[in-house]
Amino acid sequence: MAVALIVAAGRGERLGSGRPKALVTLAGRPMLEWSVEALRAVPSVSAIVVALPIEAVDLAPAGCVAVAGGAVRSQSVQAALAAAPAGDDPVLVHDAARPLADASLFAAALAELERSGADAVVAAAPVTDTIKQVRTGLEVERTLDRSLLWAAQTPQVFRREALERVLVDASDELLARATDDAWLIERAGGSVRILPAPADNIKVTTPRDLHLAETLLRQRAGG
Ligand code: C5P
Repeated sequence: MAVALIVAAGRGERLGSGRPKALVTLAGRPMLEWSVEALRAVPSVSAIVVALPIEAVDLAPAGCVAVAGGAVRSQSVQAALAAAPAGDDPVLVHDAARPLADASLFAAALAELERSGADAVVAAAPVTDTIKQVRTGLEVERTLDRSLLWAAQTPQVFRREALERVLVDASDELLARATDDAWLIERAGGSVRILPAPADNIKVTTPRDLHLAETLLRQRAGG
């Protein structure tokens, strides 16, 4: 079995909707509910914990454990992990801002953790742009080898003991630097593997992303 943590405590300021991003209506329902529904369709997921902005904790979908998130994303993961049922089952972390992730992607990530024996598995898509690394002043320092680059997404799945080791006592300063949870495992010397995932598993940040996500969800539903 596995425990799923959905982080949904972002303010969504870049979306400009005036309410938490995870609760913005997307293809007929709050964005968060797409991820909850997909996770409920994964037989091995036994519990779902959702981190929400403190004023929205009572808006969590029925049947989920609700917890107040933190000031930065990794603090929300930390709070959700602390509220998860005890045990040593794998932990799946997912951003509510990625409503296109489906049950098969969640199940594949959990299966890859089991198969590989790694500490963490990260859904990611191959990078299609050429990536330039610059110095301050926008002078190009070098061009990275695109064949080795993957854009990290969620879900990210973890051995519970490995995630607890890096998160439980992490300083606020470290958590503020972490743009994903797998990085915390990497810097502690743990093993992290990529699970190739669809580029369609976009993160909704801007109104344009919201429009694209809506189009993709409606296409998937055949309407
Ligand atoms: O801000 P960003 O889009 O990178 O957030 C990614 C995910 O992390 C979103 O699902 C957002 O709700 C969540 N988040 C959170 N707590 C924060 C900031 C972001 O749960 N303090």
